[in-house]
Amino acid sequence: MLKLGIIGTNWITQQFIDAAAASGEWQLTSVYSRHAETAQAFAAKNHADETFTDLDAFFSRGSFDTVYIASPNSLHFAQAKQAIAYGKHVIVEKPAVANQQEFEQLDAVLKAHPDVLLFEAARQIHEVNFQRVKDQIKKLSLVQGATLTYMKYSSRYDAVLAGEEPNIFSLNFAGGALQDLGVYLAYDAVGWFGMPEEVAYYPTLIRTGVDGKGVAILRYADFTVTLNVGKTSDSFLPSEINGLRDAIVMDNPAELGQITYQDKDGQEHAIGAQPDTNPMLAEARDFATVINDPSNHQTEYLAWRQLSRNVNKLLFNLRQSGHLYFTGEAPDTDK
Ligand SMILES: NC(=O)c1ccc[n+]([C@@H]2O[C@H](COP(=O)([O-])OP(=O)(O)OC[C@H]3O[C@@H](n4cnc5c(N)ncnc54)[C@H](OP(=O)(O)O)[C@@H]3O)[C@@H](O)[C@H]2O)c1
Repeated sequence: MLKLGIIGTNWITQQFIDAAAASGEWQLTSVYSRHAETAQAFAAKNHADETFTDLDAFFSRGSFDTVYIASPNSLHFAQAKQAIAYGKHVIVEKPAVANQQEFEQLDAVLKAHPDVLLFEAARQIHEVNFQRVKDQIKKLSLVQGATLTYMKYSSRYDAVLAGEEPNIFSLNFAGGALQDLGVYLAYDAVGWFGMPEEVAYYPTLIRTGVDGKGVAILRYADFTVTLNVGKTSDSFLPSEINGLRDAIVMDNPAELGQITYQDKDGQEHAIGAQPDTNPMLAEARDFATVINDPSNHQTEYLAWRQLSRNVNKLLFNLRQSGHLYFTGEAPDTDK
């Protein structure tokens, strides 16, 4: 059994622990929280032995071999870097980093610790339906573009409207719609179509300075992909990839629950599999497979790293185009 430590004690960590347990590959041993009571409650509920409120102690004394990091976005980089330095494998929530420079620095730290593996928890790319869409795209006689929409009203926007600044809506924590739900759309676009040649992002800014919603245009050699992302509004639109007279239609491009291929005669063909009850199960299994036998799984690991590199670069380029800068960042004058 692989031993797991966790940073962050919100619902997503519980979901990952449940997935890890369901995979049969992981055992939670170590819990870090800024608050002793939170760590103890979380550990008791999930049968973990150790709790920590000090990050150095967590990394130096914790008995785990892999850490799952689900802290606010701006903290991912420093926590991942520290974990690697202590020889711990890292599963870091999306987005893995807040900017391109951080990604490159993590690459450099990984080079100095060649036995350590780092995974971005981009859950949908590990699910069967992500590959089903990719396979169906290859069968289209022509790709003429796509429109992908993921807009879900966040209950934390109520707090913004009440005058507060929750992490996910804060420039101090690398928040905003693009850095949250937009990551799924970026994974879809890069995973299915590769890197675009040119990008533009038109954010709708909210009081805290982040993008509450926005539209991204990705220009490829022969077509354009439009991403609609938002956390301050709901959308009920399906998403689609357009062929010649046919199309691939998805209920939601991140959840990938229902996927149909509409042929040129207007006939619908269901092409998706039934998703796992816990959407993090597939990634929990995949990460364990690679950690347990890295030499036989180099190819997938390197492919995920490259995809993560490209996605984080795309997110960075989109932010630059939309003039969205996190706290402490300066505009990139090379652009
Ligand atoms: N893959 C998915 O489906 C999915 C879904 C949701 C979120 N996420 C990702 O998970 C990450 C966490 O998101 P979230 O919404 O759970 O974030 P959050 O509620 O703002 O913070 C997560 C945890 O980080 C700790 N934390 C909060 N504020 C902090 C601060 N100022 N300094 C240090 N630690 C702090 C808290 O744990 P303690 O109080 O115990 O220290 C908290 O439980 C994000 O990167 C997000 O993108 C992924």
